Amino acid sequence: MTTWSPLPTSAIMTPTHLGPAEHLFSAEEVETAIQRMAVAINEEMEHLTPHRPVLLLCVLTGAVVVVGQLMPHLRFPLVLDCVQVGRYGDETSGGVLQWRTRPKESLAGAVVLLVDDILDEGVTLQALQEYCMVEGAAAVHTAVMVRKIRSRAIDVRVDYVGLEVPDRFVFGYGLDARGLGRNAPGIFVLPEDG
Ligand code: IMP
Ligand code: MG
Repeated sequence: MTTWSPLPTSAIMTPTHLGPAEHLFSAEEVETAIQRMAVAINEEMEHLTPHRPVLLLCVLTGAVVVVGQLMPHLRFPLVLDCVQVGRYGDETSGGVLQWRTRPKESLAGAVVLLVDDILDEGVTLQALQEYCMVEGAAAVHTAVMVRKIRSRAIDVRVDYVGLEVPDRFVFGYGLDARGLGRNAPGIFVLPEDG
């Protein structure tokens, strides 16, 4: 059960959080970046699987918007499936991945395209890549809408990146700040983080 703690209204419920100072990318800029990503994905993937559709895995919940925008631009047969994971971020659990939803499709022999909203530390994406390989995927391609510019302890491979953002807490276009802000039309920095 998720504990929902509302943000201060000044931070998220008023138009000020869409103000220029905190506004990183407009909806148009994000859409353009997603289209660019689709072109790159098509170039690499459209000839890969003539006999079997690509398995597109949407990493819930944040990737729903990027996946929804990406899919109509993809020019190869695909099957859409979802995964949902969370992880404890504290030292008592060592970053263990907790599964909420596993893929319904078999990964055995599949060419997988994993799509997530953001690459932060990289733990989630790396764990999902490993999971796909353990389940027998033939290949795993990875795409993120946003990559944070930061150092990473782990060397996670990402094949397609939409946009890069500074190492701040961002929301919008599927990305949430404590559950809110996924519908924000663009990418924004959470004001308290400033
Ligand atoms: P990781 O650190 O790369 O494993 O990222 C874990 C997850 O944290 C991501 O899939 C996002 O759901 C979430 N996350 C990390 N940074 C942000 C952010 O700036 N805004 C919203 N969600 C974030
Ligand atoms: Mg996520």
